[in-house]
Amino acid sequence: MFKLAVVPGDGIGQEVTAQALKVLDAISKKYNFAYTAQTGLIGGSAIDETGDPFPQETQDLVAQSDAVLLGAVGGLKWDGPEMKVRPEQGLLGIRQYLKLYANLRPVKCWPQLIEQSPFKKERIAGVDLLIVRELTGGAYFGARGTKVVDGISKAYDTIEYSAEEIRRIVNVAFDLAQQRDKKVTSVDKANILDSSRLWRKVVLEEVVKHPEITLNHLYVDNCAMQLCLNPAQFDVIVTENTFGDILSDQASVLGGSLGMLPSASIGAGTALYEPVHGSAPDIAGQDKANPLAAILSVAMLLRISFQQPQAALAVEKAVETILNQGLRTADIWTPGNIRVGTAEMTEAIIKEIS
Ligand code: IPM
Ligand code: MG
Repeated sequence: MFKLAVVPGDGIGQEVTAQALKVLDAISKKYNFAYTAQTGLIGGSAIDETGDPFPQETQDLVAQSDAVLLGAVGGLKWDGPEMKVRPEQGLLGIRQYLKLYANLRPVKCWPQLIEQSPFKKERIAGVDLLIVRELTGGAYFGARGTKVVDGISKAYDTIEYSAEEIRRIVNVAFDLAQQRDKKVTSVDKANILDSSRLWRKVVLEEVVKHPEITLNHLYVDNCAMQLCLNPAQFDVIVTENTFGDILSDQASVLGGSLGMLPSASIGAGTALYEPVHGSAPDIAGQDKANPLAAILSVAMLLRISFQQPQAALAVEKAVETILNQGLRTADIWTPGNIRVGTAEMTEAIIKEIS
């Protein structure tokens, strides 16, 4: 039987994961498939219980699971530059432990939310892009530290990539583009960074193996601008870890809200699904969080890990329907729509599915 590990984490991570699980339960009944779900600790709540943001018990749990559903980590309680143990280490830990090198972040413009976008309608209509972010390399995992040079204290972080690390992620992007509009934009800073020059070299080596793909390169600063000026030009964007982190938050605005953005992280085995948003401690525990990013992450889980494309589609359709009905959590609410809480929005989706 399919084994799912659930690691809700902190803040609204707890709430949205609970709601997403209800949706998974409903859809599994409808489409007749079974799974087990076992919960583990990660992030700040794991620090509180065990002192470790990614404790051994959670490592064992995810190692034995077919997929992981994660909420979010972090919170004011564990924040501050002097903290030695941080919730985010749990997230980086699980990504590294499961070798989740490919992070897929699809962004599409929901027509239902277009009115409340800070962008002009005609600019974002039709946006449907996929950010493929490298997730286990770059500055996130490179050498870092502090040192004293000529009596001056400094802190440093390093971006390191091997050709093989680049090769595997760009091939993920090419393969996914093959099933979409066959356009790949590789984003780097090759005018400055050696790691980006290697990135570009490997991309050029690999693209010849994918003759149907149209490839272009953008420097990351230009890409940030193009995402505002003409976002509909993009199909698949592939980039290194830090650039992908920044660009995916920026791109989320095109989709209406960070609260709408799902993600899947894949590697050698167990895959992980999580909303792109954080733990939002300011609204945690108030039934205000938008559960749709977590619910849409379940749709990605259904499609990729469960291999249940019909069920995935049904979840996505249900989200569309309730948006058409005007249901909105606070982050996507505009006058004239119906303001609902986290639980009520989920209930509406479940009703739609069943
Ligand atoms: C993300 C988040 C994480 C990241 C943080 C919470 C460590 O911003 O998943 O995009 O930087 O990768
Ligand atoms: Mg981020």
